Amino acid sequence: MKTLGLLVVLGVIGSLAVDRNNFKTCEQSGFCKRLRPLKPEKSQYVLNLDTVIVHGNSLSAEVVTVDQESEKKPVLWHYALKLSALVDGTFHVELDEADPLYPRYRTQKALDGEPKPDALKLVSNEAGQLTLMNTQGHKVVITSDPLKFDFLDKNGEVAVVLNGNCQLFVEPLRTKREKVADDDEDGNGNALELDEEAWSENFKSHHDSKPRGNEAVSLDVTFPDADQVYGIPEHTDNLALSTTTSGDPYRLYNLDVFEYELDSRMSIYGSIPVVYAHGSKRTVGVFWHNSAETWVDVVNYNDATVVSSLVNLVTGGNKKKIDTRFMSESGIVDVFVMMGDTPNQVFRQYTRLTGVAEIPPKFSIGYHQSRWNYVDEADVASVHAGFDAHDIPLDVLWLDIEYTDRKKYFTWDPIKFANPTEMVANLTSKGRKLVIIIDPHIKREAGYFVHEDATAMDLYVKDKTGKIYEGWCWPGASSYLDFFNPAASAYYKERYRYENFPGTSKDVHFWNDMNEPSVFNGPEITMPKDCQHYKPPQDGQEGIASFWEHRHVHNEYGLWHIWAGHEALIERSGGKYRPFILSRAIFSGLQRYAAVWTGDNLAEWGFLAASIRMCLSLGISGVSFCGSDVGGFFQNPDAELMTRWYQAGAYQPFFRAHSHMETKRREPWLYEPATTLRIRDAVRRRYALLDLWYTLFFEHHRDGLPIMRPIFEEYPKEVEAFTIDDQYLLGQNLLVRPVVEAGATSAKVYLPGRDSGVLWYDVDSYQVHRANGYFSQDVNIGKIPVYQRGGSIVPRKERVRRATALMTNDPYTLIVALDANNTATGTIFIDDGESFDYREGKYIYARFTYDKNGITYKFIDDKSSYPTRSWVERIVVAGIKSPPKVARLRQGDVTTALLMTLHRGNDVLVVRKPGASMAQEWSIEFTY
Ligand code: GLC
Repeated sequence: MKTLGLLVVLGVIGSLAVDRNNFKTCEQSGFCKRLRPLKPEKSQYVLNLDTVIVHGNSLSAEVVTVDQESEKKPVLWHYALKLSALVDGTFHVELDEADPLYPRYRTQKALDGEPKPDALKLVSNEAGQLTLMNTQGHKVVITSDPLKFDFLDKNGEVAVVLNGNCQLFVEPLRTKREKVADDDEDGNGNALELDEEAWSENFKSHHDSKPRGNEAVSLDVTFPDADQVYGIPEHTDNLALSTTTSGDPYRLYNLDVFEYELDSRMSIYGSIPVVYAHGSKRTVGVFWHNSAETWVDVVNYNDATVVSSLVNLVTGGNKKKIDTRFMSESGIVDVFVMMGDTPNQVFRQYTRLTGVAEIPPKFSIGYHQSRWNYVDEADVASVHAGFDAHDIPLDVLWLDIEYTDRKKYFTWDPIKFANPTEMVANLTSKGRKLVIIIDPHIKREAGYFVHEDATAMDLYVKDKTGKIYEGWCWPGASSYLDFFNPAASAYYKERYRYENFPGTSKDVHFWNDMNEPSVFNGPEITMPKDCQHYKPPQDGQEGIASFWEHRHVHNEYGLWHIWAGHEALIERSGGKYRPFILSRAIFSGLQRYAAVWTGDNLAEWGFLAASIRMCLSLGISGVSFCGSDVGGFFQNPDAELMTRWYQAGAYQPFFRAHSHMETKRREPWLYEPATTLRIRDAVRRRYALLDLWYTLFFEHHRDGLPIMRPIFEEYPKEVEAFTIDDQYLLGQNLLVRPVVEAGATSAKVYLPGRDSGVLWYDVDSYQVHRANGYFSQDVNIGKIPVYQRGGSIVPRKERVRRATALMTNDPYTLIVALDANNTATGTIFIDDGESFDYREGKYIYARFTYDKNGITYKFIDDKSSYPTRSWVERIVVAGIKSPPKVARLRQGDVTTALLMTLHRGNDVLVVRKPGASMAQEWSIEFTY
């Protein structure tokens, strides 16, 4: 019996774990296996000092590889180096073959336009070293033999080193030749050509024809003085990256990983090749601009797992440092070095390169209800009505793939969704929206217009022989639109026009899934690497030079898909409305077009905990609009887990419940009433703070900083906080510590800001805590720890309604949390919530300021205005020591005396009904 019991348990666990056999290890990935062990004592790469030209913002020079072993050092290969200085303390290093057999792929869509140049000055050229400087005082020292780059911070200390460990490699493109007897005698590295693996690879039953042979690139990057490194999402392990000396490196290869596992360096849906290194001295970063399969090794010499002998050997005993190394299957060495020097500066440097998110339409920061699937219009109507019946706010209902006519996108099931226009009208009558799914695979069915058009117009990705590639996905036999082809993206965009997709309107938005791309019968559940993508025709580029292989573009395929959809949604409204799109695949720059979620998670506590660190890691890597399936996609969450997930989700940027078709229905009212009430409470807390969220999104759009912030971002000197990833800050002002353990009666919370005497106010009780590192907060099932920083002012709307749109004109309550000096400030952004009119100045961005003399509301952007009908209903001042006797509101020419009351132990002052309009500036004056 016992054995049987164990087997049953194992069976359950077994059926819910990832099938690792479907995915490559480094050993099974040709270039990773080939490059990872290469650690030459001396790099073969040498800068030819005679070729150096410094002009404007860049240096160019020839780099050669030489046979360092041989006395004559014969030149093996020629490369072109370019180093440029960019605004904002960033450098760009590119190394390509000088005269490649065919052009090597350069990632196309990650950057938000051409980065802006800074001036670069040659400071010295002596003893085989060039020293250059940007206008901010950062220096680059290039050592010529062997080639090495030291990037110096403004204090002249080395902050980033490239090729310090001699692991720079750019495998030259070769012509495939038959193996002949004398082929290995000319000493030109023909060993590569004789290697069978260079020209084909196998994984399980899949064969990769590798028509260009080996073309991998690699570079080591060292961060002196760093305590931790972060970034390279999307992974499920800790925010602070771990040492990879045992096991595989981190892998970046967008994959549809069924039942992905926790605490893992395996690839999942997204890949953002940016790494940040942080220590008490500085924060810097490196963006590895490459869209091919990439592996990243990390060795943190502070890490207890790195044997001390190695530490001593490499660091001389006491110096901290972290080694990282990027290895990609193709492309060029294309790396941005971001000099920081604070976390906020380096995160901003990254979003200056890759862009920021558009201000989302306001509804999309409300609550979303999804399921695979709401089965028909009656189901949609009843779920919709359920939210009203239980008084739970809701902004969006979602339809998964079953709404289509048998998985043909841009169609509706003619029976179950026969009247989409009415269905949408029913939602919009309550201020709500619809989101529907469109995946990039197209059903291969005769008579399906998209398939017929795409075939006739030649818009699909091709297989290795140049025929239309056919894979297997939700619809069965499918082909994949090649968004790299302008004709394909133009055709795809047209499909979103209201007239081409009847039933859709400005209130219908989109979910673009499976865009890694997912191919059920493909190698690693994706597209074969030797598939062919469009490349603009160019003279002399024929045969394998006339297309890009999927291998080159894989990680940016989803980005092109999302880019096209985003353009489509802007175009369908004549440029008027801001679109909402949700994407599963992620690459650098995706934040410009879409929100993301963490894919098919499990209804388990560990996945709730992982949602925090996964969104934190994505947030610092540019993608702030992040959430996870509330409740977990697979399996059935019990009432406690469901409650905790809602409470956590309410404080994450993207807040959507979603579940697999085989799970039990779990709309909030299907739990017992006490749970439904707690879920309702969590959602209502979200709605009360919508204007804070909206302001945070606006500020992200403007300043490029993450919305969900790791503690070290705002408190970069607090070493204890460097590894915290179970709590976070929203902007600077709210600190959130979701409860992610079953049966919790207390939560360990870290309150940062000890040295500067920061105060943190419990948002439920206004109880104040002076920052002093960790403390234990009592919780019950209704509470998660959330604190407002002393010194901040947070806008709330207390009249929570059915949907965001219905709260537009509602009054504000301002929560003023005083710091030790009895001051506080906060900001607010107001516009119409949906259009691009803010670009014409139709908005308010204003600051509230509190000091002993009173409170002011002043426009930060004083050339803009917006006729909001909202007003101030109440001001709550927490932490007040000597309350004023009289308060007078001044707005325009009118002065009004205000009522005030004291609460708690007389440390909370409430200013009642100031009635001030938010459309104009105002002030409240205190007298004592
Ligand atoms: C994928 C998505 C999931 C969706 C399903 C059906 O598994 O990750 O969210 O429900 O496809 O479209």
